[in-house]
Amino acid sequence: MNYNFGDHNYFASNLSGTNSFQHVLDVAGIQQGSALNILELGTGMGSSACWMSDNIMDHPDSTLTCVDHFLAFNLDLAQSNIDLSKNGNKVTVLRQLIEQFIFDTTETYDLIYIDANHRTWPVLTYCFFALKHLTDQGVVIIDDYSSEFPEVQEAVEWFTKEMSESIDICDLDLDDPNIFAFKRRQIS
Ligand SMILES: C[S@@+](CC[C@H](N)C(=O)[O-])C[C@H]1O[C@@H](n2cnc3c(N)ncnc32)[C@H](O)[C@@H]1O
Repeated sequence: MNYNFGDHNYFASNLSGTNSFQHVLDVAGIQQGSALNILELGTGMGSSACWMSDNIMDHPDSTLTCVDHFLAFNLDLAQSNIDLSKNGNKVTVLRQLIEQFIFDTTETYDLIYIDANHRTWPVLTYCFFALKHLTDQGVVIIDDYSSEFPEVQEAVEWFTKEMSESIDICDLDLDDPNIFAFKRRQIS
């Protein structure tokens, strides 16, 4: 596909790209052919949204909601990339502060992909929001969990410690995954 991600094809160009993302979905037990209600926090030029649209959204009832304030990136560029993607018609792009979106939404999601503000408190906020808005079998994926982004690591480590009784960390079994994933713990 002739996408225009400029220098911002973060998703395909690093370890959080297609291989490990696919691997995370497999580990988390996300069925590729099933109907998925997906939320993306942080869309940029749309590279991660396009990957999800191309690879995991073939079910007719799958949807993806992308939230970004588009202060640094151009909404029209992101939208034109997403329109080119395989299931672009199932993607809704919202120009909105994530803080406002998470205050308003009552939905639950099968997959919540977090790649927005990389500071400690926003990441913590996203994590708590995501746990609350996850379906029983859903998975939360946090990008840039690496030494390059120590505040993402700090937030995730704080969250997982505090919420250790409510979540299960996905064992990704990758040397340097650059990605973190958790599910809601099922009470049997
Ligand atoms: C690293 S980029 C996302 C890259 C994208 N996931 C990809 O793979 O191409 C981070 C995005 O988060 C957005 N962002 C950061 N803080 C935000 C906030 N508080 N509300 C809305 N969007 C925000 C920025 O505008 C930026 O586009």
